Amino acid sequence: MPAGVAPMSAADDDLPAYLSRYYGWAYLHPNAVRFFDRRWVLNLILLGNYGRLCDAALDAMGGLVDQRVLQIACVYGDLTPCLAARLEGSSSLDVVDVARIQLDNLQRKLTGDLPVRLRRENACRLRFSDGHFDKTLLFFLLHEQPEEVRRATLAEAVRVTRPGGRVIIVDYHLPRRCNVVRYLMAAVLKMLEPFAMDLWRREIRDYLPATGGSMAISKRTFFADLYQIVSVEPESAAGAAGRAEFPGAVP
Ligand SMILES: C[S@@+](CC[C@H](N)C(=O)[O-])C[C@H]1O[C@@H](n2cnc3c(N)ncnc32)[C@H](O)[C@@H]1O
Repeated sequence: MPAGVAPMSAADDDLPAYLSRYYGWAYLHPNAVRFFDRRWVLNLILLGNYGRLCDAALDAMGGLVDQRVLQIACVYGDLTPCLAARLEGSSSLDVVDVARIQLDNLQRKLTGDLPVRLRRENACRLRFSDGHFDKTLLFFLLHEQPEEVRRATLAEAVRVTRPGGRVIIVDYHLPRRCNVVRYLMAAVLKMLEPFAMDLWRREIRDYLPATGGSMAISKRTFFADLYQIVSVEPESAAGAAGRAEFPGAVP
């Protein structure tokens, strides 16, 4: 099945206000896409950790044989092509984003005959049924969202991931006091990313929905705690509680 952007159901004039207001410079302008979608730029923004975080995210996704995989929001760089390359058997990947320009850009990067579908969707209102996916990935999306949007996004991620499946979240985290970039990052985030510091003050688990069943949640941090990968396993009410070993080999 060739990669392709599904026909849009709505015009691109219903972008979330926070995205247009605070992130147009990064995601919505063609020059932004041209500038940011380079590995050295991403590596600079992530202080040399781009490859390491991508590898850790992919490892945390676990085996991708006969799996339905969802990526919520496009990302610059080659994370999605690498994820697509890991699909085996009957696996498929759906990537959703609210910005058409980002979906078009991703489509250009997906070459060959891949089982990947791109759809214009708002992360807060996904048009997928409950438990449709085995694995769901969110890579540096949550820190860009206001708290109520972050809650809605996580509620949707958990809803569309089946009990026993896995939601992998990669994002910022409160760095240790000894982290030499702590104060620099605080200044940069406060200046450019108005909602990012939330993730220094609160845990991602605080934004997860209260479900009827239990959820196994585990966290790994990187680069003196500046970054985190959180794994959430939605479970049925009868599911095993407390299974919290972090999936995947993380360096
Ligand atoms: C995943 S985040 C940050 C990614 C990271 N900085 C990178 O590119 O490596 C950026 C993406 O999230 C998308 N986005 C933001 N809010 C969204 C929402 N509510 N629903 C779907 N996509 C959203 C933006 O359109 C953009 O493509």
